[in-house]
Amino acid sequence: MASIAAIKAREVLDSRGEPTVEVDVFLNDGSRGRAIVPSGASTGKHEAHELRDDNPRRYHGCGVRNALDHVEIEIATALYGREASDQAGLDARLIALDGTREKRRLGANALLGVSMAVARAAAASAGLPLYRYLGGPQAAELPVPLVNILSGGLHGGGNFEFQDFMVVPLAANDFAQALEHAAAVYAAMKDVLKGRGVYRAGVADEGGYAPTLQSNQAGFELMTEAIERAGLKPGVDAAIAVDVAASQIVRHGHYHFESEHARLDAEEMVARLAAWAGRYPVVSIEDGLGEDDWAGWKLLTDRLGARAQLIGDDLFVTNLERLGKGVEEGAANAILAKLNQAGTLTETLEVIEFARENRYRAVVSARSGETEDTFIADLTVATAAGQIKIGALTRSERLAKYNRLLAIERELGPRAVYRGRERLAFNQASV
Ligand code: PGA
Ligand code: ZN
Repeated sequence: MASIAAIKAREVLDSRGEPTVEVDVFLNDGSRGRAIVPSGASTGKHEAHELRDDNPRRYHGCGVRNALDHVEIEIATALYGREASDQAGLDARLIALDGTREKRRLGANALLGVSMAVARAAAASAGLPLYRYLGGPQAAELPVPLVNILSGGLHGGGNFEFQDFMVVPLAANDFAQALEHAAAVYAAMKDVLKGRGVYRAGVADEGGYAPTLQSNQAGFELMTEAIERAGLKPGVDAAIAVDVAASQIVRHGHYHFESEHARLDAEEMVARLAAWAGRYPVVSIEDGLGEDDWAGWKLLTDRLGARAQLIGDDLFVTNLERLGKGVEEGAANAILAKLNQAGTLTETLEVIEFARENRYRAVVSARSGETEDTFIADLTVATAAGQIKIGALTRSERLAKYNRLLAIERELGPRAVYRGRERLAFNQASV
């Protein structure tokens, strides 16, 4: 048992060179916890509010000094002397203190930095690794990684709309081998792109290649080819996952694929996605429809839900109410869990738990703006979510998390569990 003695905040930079909030929480037994808040680019419009200074003289208005002040003055005062291991109570206090639905007043970035750092401090005080502190002694499952290979949309400089083409290693026996297989595909993709004359130096926000492709369909072809070139059997040893990030291509109620000269309504969009999923080894589709297109989502889920993972990211924004609506209406069958969409650790844990209770899968996810913070690696093991989406196997803000998972796997030794392809299988008893 230890109580909060002090809270400090700093403005640091994320992987895009944008300011973000770093928080240190100090306990009265000398323990300390530090956390850094991530930040998205293709953000959902229903996410918790990220507080920026709007001072055009600093970081084009993106400074976070107001959020820092909220941490060090109002939040620090409110939490002083409170028991650090009472995560749920502290998070409830943070939410009440802010008092707005979207965490607009103090900022979700201020709240989340404190929420995460408190958990770290309490884990340190208990002398436990974070995954063990949050997940208890049974926390031992390493996730299947959805590894970014090609980036388009807002994350890539190319001309195709799909935000991510990812590889899902299915044949691996453990997490370390899953990374090995994904790395082989990443390396093979470079040769594939060079062979087609579309390779470009440099990588996208999440470390994927950002080639100029003629269409999104070309992405599926290249992925299949790279998997084969890596010596893996497409659909058997490794499969494809995509993040369409469809909210970004909605205009006047239609989905616009400029690269394919297509303007589709929801029904046509579902037909297009189903055609791709039938033709290529696709196991997971994220944000295949827009964040407010509930009718379209239901259509997609009716059509593909029995054979593919359909993840709501911008649709659910790690929000219990929105996920509840999804469950009720039969929209999607999986949720992307992002701490800063929710704004506190407790709410994120509740969403993951609610998903499990309702047989929705949960994929813990990084943001496109990331840092060296590895919290989500531990969070994924703690919750036994079973899948994680971090980005490509380049850029140290991504590798910090992959490497943390490798360390956890080693630390768990023979107790480590890796369910692999079983996690992506359908019509199974447990989720
Ligand atoms: P974001 O992208 O962090 O820019 O929102 C990640 C995602 O869409 O999954
Ligand atoms: Zn997404």
